[in-house]
Amino acid sequence: MLDSYHTELLDATEIGSAVDYLKTGHVVSFPTETVYGLGAPIFSEAVIKKIFDVKGRPSDNPLIAHISNIEQVHDIAIDIPEDFYLLAEAFFPGPLTVILPKHPNVPLLASAGLPTIGVRMPEHPVALELIKQLGEPIVAPSANISGRPSSTSYQHVLDDFQGRIAAVLISPPSSIGLESTVVSIIGEEPVVLRPGKITAEEISLVLKKKVRLASYDEVHQGPILSPGMKYRHYAPKASVRLFFSLSELERYLQKEPALYRLLLCNEKVAESSSLEIAPLSSNGLYAALRHADDLAVAEVLALCDRSIQKQHDLMNRLLKASQG
Ligand code: TXA
Ligand code: MG
Repeated sequence: MLDSYHTELLDATEIGSAVDYLKTGHVVSFPTETVYGLGAPIFSEAVIKKIFDVKGRPSDNPLIAHISNIEQVHDIAIDIPEDFYLLAEAFFPGPLTVILPKHPNVPLLASAGLPTIGVRMPEHPVALELIKQLGEPIVAPSANISGRPSSTSYQHVLDDFQGRIAAVLISPPSSIGLESTVVSIIGEEPVVLRPGKITAEEISLVLKKKVRLASYDEVHQGPILSPGMKYRHYAPKASVRLFFSLSELERYLQKEPALYRLLLCNEKVAESSSLEIAPLSSNGLYAALRHADDLAVAEVLALCDRSIQKQHDLMNRLLKASQG
């Protein structure tokens, strides 16, 4: 049975109330610069379990630990390689999650049974203050029902969890809008498991070594490096189709012009009454996919022009949505 709540909206002056909820066994949503998170204290197994239940998250999908100061890493990870400190120096606080060997004190539920833990220091001041006031790291997945687009505003969180979680810390929409880069530095060669705003090239420059991008097969078939990546993600109810040139898109539109569609596109296209048009951008993608659900369009079309194609993180999410 899921708990039922009158979900409270808290502003940045009410972080203390959010801390009280976390300390008394409740899940709280909080803003980060990437997407909103659904948080639990890392050493509270019962609250962590509530995250899995309320999201409908498969139990083999590990959570990311959010820290507010670098010292906290010693409470949750062991055998920390020198590369971690180089990455932390360059990119913390910010949109990077680093996979490290897990400290035995961290409940296995948090890491979904893995001997490793993802560590990230968010840049958002509300997230940092929440972790600081709680006095321990917060594990948090993105604040969306499993399989739905991540939440980039508190309204998205309410759409998915109103009445199901104790509170949401409200803030303006997430500035980045796509989840953090996930990099594993456990093996010999660092591997990017999930692309994000911080690129493999940037990581490579800091570590002064080659950084590999995990292949599709590694992520989607065994041995599974990053369990979460194999699940259907970021998908609206309508099917998503990608186009790589305007002419290809225009030809497609002519085929069934009456079909109700949402087009995500940064170029000028002929308007029609059956076509809703919105810009395509990293920080607008998830809101647009959720909007597609609200409109109940039959299809979402996205024009991936040259500049979009260069954005590896955005293309990764678009491809995943289109494979739904
Ligand atoms: O930007 C973000 O990272 C957001 C905000 C809230 O911080 N969080 C987020 O969490 O995106 P989530 O749970 O939606 O995605 C976590 C991803 C999943 O693909 C998961 O498999 C991977 O990180 N991951 C977490 N711990 C891991 C581990 N120990 N080994 C490999 N992959 C891991
Ligand atoms: Mg997620």
